[in-house]
Amino acid sequence: MLKNDQLDSWDRDNFFHPSTHLAQHARGESPSRIIKTASGVHIEDRDGNKLLDAFAGLYCVNAGYGRQEIADAIAAQAKELAYYHSYVGHGTEASITLSKMILDRAPANMSKVYFGLGGSDANETNIKLIWYYNNILGRPEKKKIISRWRGYHGSGLMTGSLTGLELFHKKFDLPLAGVLHTEAPYYYRRKNLEQSEAQFVAHCVSDLEAQIAHEGADTIAAFIGEPLLGTGGIVPPPAGYWPAIQAVLNRHDILLIADEVVTGFGRLGSMFGADHYGFEADIITIAKGLTSAYAPLSGSIISDKVWKVLEQGTDENGPIGHGWTYSAHPIGAAAGVANLKLIEDLNLVENAGNVGAYLNKTMAEALTDHPHVGDIRGEGMLCAVEFVQDKDNRTFFDAADKIGPQVSAKLLEQDSVIARAMPQGDILGFAPPFCLSKDEADTVVAATLRAVNSVLG
Ligand SMILES: Cc1ncc(COP(=O)(O)O)c(C=O)c1O
Repeated sequence: MLKNDQLDSWDRDNFFHPSTHLAQHARGESPSRIIKTASGVHIEDRDGNKLLDAFAGLYCVNAGYGRQEIADAIAAQAKELAYYHSYVGHGTEASITLSKMILDRAPANMSKVYFGLGGSDANETNIKLIWYYNNILGRPEKKKIISRWRGYHGSGLMTGSLTGLELFHKKFDLPLAGVLHTEAPYYYRRKNLEQSEAQFVAHCVSDLEAQIAHEGADTIAAFIGEPLLGTGGIVPPPAGYWPAIQAVLNRHDILLIADEVVTGFGRLGSMFGADHYGFEADIITIAKGLTSAYAPLSGSIISDKVWKVLEQGTDENGPIGHGWTYSAHPIGAAAGVANLKLIEDLNLVENAGNVGAYLNKTMAEALTDHPHVGDIRGEGMLCAVEFVQDKDNRTFFDAADKIGPQVSAKLLEQDSVIARAMPQGDILGFAPPFCLSKDEADTVVAATLRAVNSVLG
């Protein structure tokens, strides 16, 4: 096909990109890249540059790029039945099969799956269902939702409010009323440097307890959290955090939503973060890894406890007034079925655990002694490197210095490796596809060391 030389100007003239400096992009001052094709852990742009994508898109292409099996399943579904809705009891072979496959893999207390399109709309669904739940139970005051600072739950009205990152609130008149934020389980950034990890967990718990006491437990419906903080900095929880939080929530009859959009289906080296960290959720949010992003699909996995109340609600009030045109879209569902099967056939969850551990270990060996590397952390196929100005006193760089973005830009420029400068703090994040090999992990680590040395000396 003849190369369209106008594509770059069409892009700047017509395309509103998410999470982008709009003015700089429109003026042609910021880098842009037009991606053409991809295979395994590599993507290729239309100029023929091949890049190692160590963030799997937006930590979503878990199975890796260019999987024929998933592409074929999508094509076959599009030919046989591109669309039918799932309202008033309609389904397709793909959507019903996928529901069964998800429940077979989900924690034991889970009962049904509602399908959406992305993580944000799935979390919007969750909040609506929880409000409905408490209305059915005759508790109309029990509606507030607690989330954590640095949590990420999407960028809709409610989900942008739940997200605990400044960028997603500023100038958008968010958070909405009824959303509360509590301490981030981020031990490295604890205020009191004297605290042990156990003392820090106790502090998170007492902070939550105090907030519940202040608001009144009868006004709080749910707590939402990612098993491992993702976009807020890729931060595994301190030991014992989840069971301790769960105990507080149980005591006050507050539901727990585990937002497993990143962790669901294997990124931690096990199927779900709730099982991985030993807690029990009432609702689990899934998206990204459900289809490895081959088609948009998300889900809310509903526990038996919540489901029973929803059933009671429709007996009392008629059909549930919630649904999207594209809920359980057959093409997304077909992609999900093929993806989950492929992940199992190729043992990719096991590989995510093994090669992820190798990536974390080698990254730590290469960078621990660097004077501006304060913390290296991760779990499964997730890893983060956090930069500090002064390691001993743990002082951070000025955000205006943009150290994280500089390192990620250098990594790309020097070695064609993509890592993500996380949006708050100077943190370089890695979340490669699960099929990453040890050789590819070595490439990522060597390139990171070079980039860090180039930017920080
Ligand atoms: C934990 C978590 N929840 C929700 C979302 C929102 O998903 P989406 O961007 O598909 O709306 C994300 C996206 O990164 C996420 O990481």
